[in-house]
Amino acid sequence: MKNKRCIVTGGCGFIGSALTRLLIKETDCQVLVIDKLTYAGVPESLKEVGLDPERDVDNDISTLNSQLATLNSEKRLAFLRADICDQEAMDKAFAEFRPDTIFHLAAESHVDRSIDGPGEFIRTNITGTATLLQAALKWWKQHPSFVFQHISTDEVYGTLGETGYFTEKTPYSPHSPYSASKASSDHLVRAWHDTYGLPIRITNCSNNYGPYHFPEKLIPLVILNCLDGKPLPVYGKGANVRDWLFVEDHARALMLVNEKGADGETYNVGGHNERTNLEVVETICRIMDELRPKATSYLDLITFVTDRPGHDLRYAIDPSKLMGELGWKPRENFESGIRRTVQWYLDNEWWWKPIHEQRYSGQRLGKG
Ligand code: NAD
Ligand code: DAU
Repeated sequence: MKNKRCIVTGGCGFIGSALTRLLIKETDCQVLVIDKLTYAGVPESLKEVGLDPERDVDNDISTLNSQLATLNSEKRLAFLRADICDQEAMDKAFAEFRPDTIFHLAAESHVDRSIDGPGEFIRTNITGTATLLQAALKWWKQHPSFVFQHISTDEVYGTLGETGYFTEKTPYSPHSPYSASKASSDHLVRAWHDTYGLPIRITNCSNNYGPYHFPEKLIPLVILNCLDGKPLPVYGKGANVRDWLFVEDHARALMLVNEKGADGETYNVGGHNERTNLEVVETICRIMDELRPKATSYLDLITFVTDRPGHDLRYAIDPSKLMGELGWKPRENFESGIRRTVQWYLDNEWWWKPIHEQRYSGQRLGKG
């Protein structure tokens, strides 16, 4: 990623902020983060790369020109608070920032919330993606080397049985409102490539985990419930399998695909770290027993609860295209990554405590 101008949508979310931190720390790119700051947008996640949550959160489109004028080789991050469904704002962001590429991560991302209220998933994930594609198409006509990179999920492929892997050729078969909305957005991105020639890449990644993960998701929820001494809710029998990838490994894959990936191609991203949900929760409990010992083991807090409706049994990625063609290799395995993650939550109460107190404190979502 040499000297590029990158838009990152959803850059205050979990994966978007990991990507933005890497782009600022490890490349010389300039980055414009576009984020609406929904309940899941946490500007504090970009504090270590210079975003000031107090000063910058209200930077709307009227401030963009003056912000961009201050960018230089030292200050390479600008922030725009905007909704990706706002066509006028997106057109203006492209025209003024003049990006070489966009990493599109803004989305409603939580399956349980999509069961409770699919509307925002349809709006942001489908209409929002179409809005960005239209803005990108106009811009690409002036800047032919531009690339639209869409960040998607393995959930578009549906569920696996006990064996087998998702490849790039696996037919789409989404089951939740979330995964159906992501499948739709993938189809839109491919349609803009096939119909108008817009240069694109699509990545479909497995479950991410790591620092700055919003505590509605299984891993941070379990860590924070351990700290609160609250029950650790395991859906059904805990036998569903997810394929876990440390978030920085995903972010590095995204940069690699952007640079070296071929036009119009899809790449699956995953590191062969399949675990049942029960194994994941037990592993966290054992690490907590070691790092924050109590009179009784955290394992005693495990509680089996009603299953998620339409709960996909198993996800597992075949990453051989990404590894073989582009040379990607994850740096963390599940054991090293989960230990780093638990330690990060123990060390970074400043980040999660306000979220826990003001936005989401662990209540069950998505019972249908
Ligand atoms: P997240 O929920 O943590 O962050 C989403 C971000 O998008 C937030 O900052 C939010 O404020 C912003 N946003 C939401 N609606 C918006 C709108 N209308 N306009 C502008 N900004 C908006 O999500 P995440 O876990 O970081 O996921 C990022 C992307 O990666 C998503 O597209 C998701 O589908 C995909 N993905 C996630 C995972 C995972 O395990 N988390 C795995 C594979 C793919
Ligand atoms: O596979 C990629 C997807 O991974 C991404 O596209 C999504 O954006 C991301 O949220 C994630 O989806 P999951 O539904 O797999 O993640 P979640 O953390 O919600 O749940 C992981 C597993 O744990 C899942 O099988 C449901 C289960 N679970 C979840 C919660 C919140 C529990 O058993 N208990 C819980 O309290």
